[in-house]
Amino acid sequence: MENIDWKNLPFGYMKTDYNVRCYYRDGAWGELEVSSSEQISLHIAATSLHYGQEVFEGMKAYRGKDGQIRLFRCRDNAQRLINSGSYIQMVAPPVELFVEAVKKAVRLNERFVPPYESGATLYVRPLLIGSGAEVGVKPSKEYQFIVFVTPVGPYFKTGFTPVDVMITHDSDRAAPLGTGHIKAGGNYAASLLASSKAQQMGYATCLYLDAKEKKYIDECGPANFFGIKNNTYVTPDSKSILPSITNRSLMTLAEDLGMTVERRQVELPELETFDEAGACGTAAVITPIKKIFDPLSGKTYDYGIEAGPVSTKLYDLLRAIQYGDATDKHQWVEFVE
Ligand code: PLP
Ligand code: COI
Repeated sequence: MENIDWKNLPFGYMKTDYNVRCYYRDGAWGELEVSSSEQISLHIAATSLHYGQEVFEGMKAYRGKDGQIRLFRCRDNAQRLINSGSYIQMVAPPVELFVEAVKKAVRLNERFVPPYESGATLYVRPLLIGSGAEVGVKPSKEYQFIVFVTPVGPYFKTGFTPVDVMITHDSDRAAPLGTGHIKAGGNYAASLLASSKAQQMGYATCLYLDAKEKKYIDECGPANFFGIKNNTYVTPDSKSILPSITNRSLMTLAEDLGMTVERRQVELPELETFDEAGACGTAAVITPIKKIFDPLSGKTYDYGIEAGPVSTKLYDLLRAIQYGDATDKHQWVEFVE
């Protein structure tokens, strides 16, 4: 295994040995190709560059106590890439091709899969870009699908230690009937201003409200939001948030624990009523929230400096499944042989 300081890895890019690529041309996907280059060659008029025809995914490979490498719900990521692509008129790779490319990229970079209990994981980034030349606003006829991997530490430096977040009132990452529900690069461009403002003010990230009424909670930086009260897991239902695979899994695990799950609109004042709050996603896993600051009202919602008992239980359970320490009763795990 690579000689890397696994325990102190940031959530950032590190060069690995190989990436996997596939090209869609003349109406068909080609064979998977392996590259050791970190560069791509792209037409200056490619639709991804001009009209934002780009979607991506984020997933992780986990090394278990048994040394085996596991992927978590990778077919759901494959399906989400198809859904994302379809909404902006892109051709995405079929599920089997996606899974094969991901497994190949992980296998070829096996020495970069962090050891069990190092706190690090191998982040897998599949991306799909319109690569054909168009000058009029129209979908590309050609696509490049690329999977690269990079070992990462926690997304929020503190890991499972609670963070402070700030509500954003003066910008939206996505419109209700726009692209918020897909993983398109443009959503992240639209989020940069709000997240840098929040970070400059000392917050880990921003909490978005619904774009139309500014009345409901949407999501939390690059992660979904959840609140816990009365043995109930509450998470926003909104047309402009990304359907998080982590959140979907936590809803199932909460039900397994005998909790009630409510996926519905969450009005801003309801923040007051939660005992625990958190952000969840592949990169964020569960990041508990300590405080939510609302700059408009000046109000702070406080959930305490320690992760709450329910968030902790859900975090432990999710991680145990991902690393192969708990029974995978929902069949979420797939091995990279
Ligand atoms: N919301 C946004 C905006 C994201 O970028 C992500 C990350 O993928 C999530 C939520 C969490 O989704 P998932 O749990 O599928 O990683
Ligand atoms: C993820 O959670 O996988 C993400 O994609 C979040 C962010 C790094 C964009």
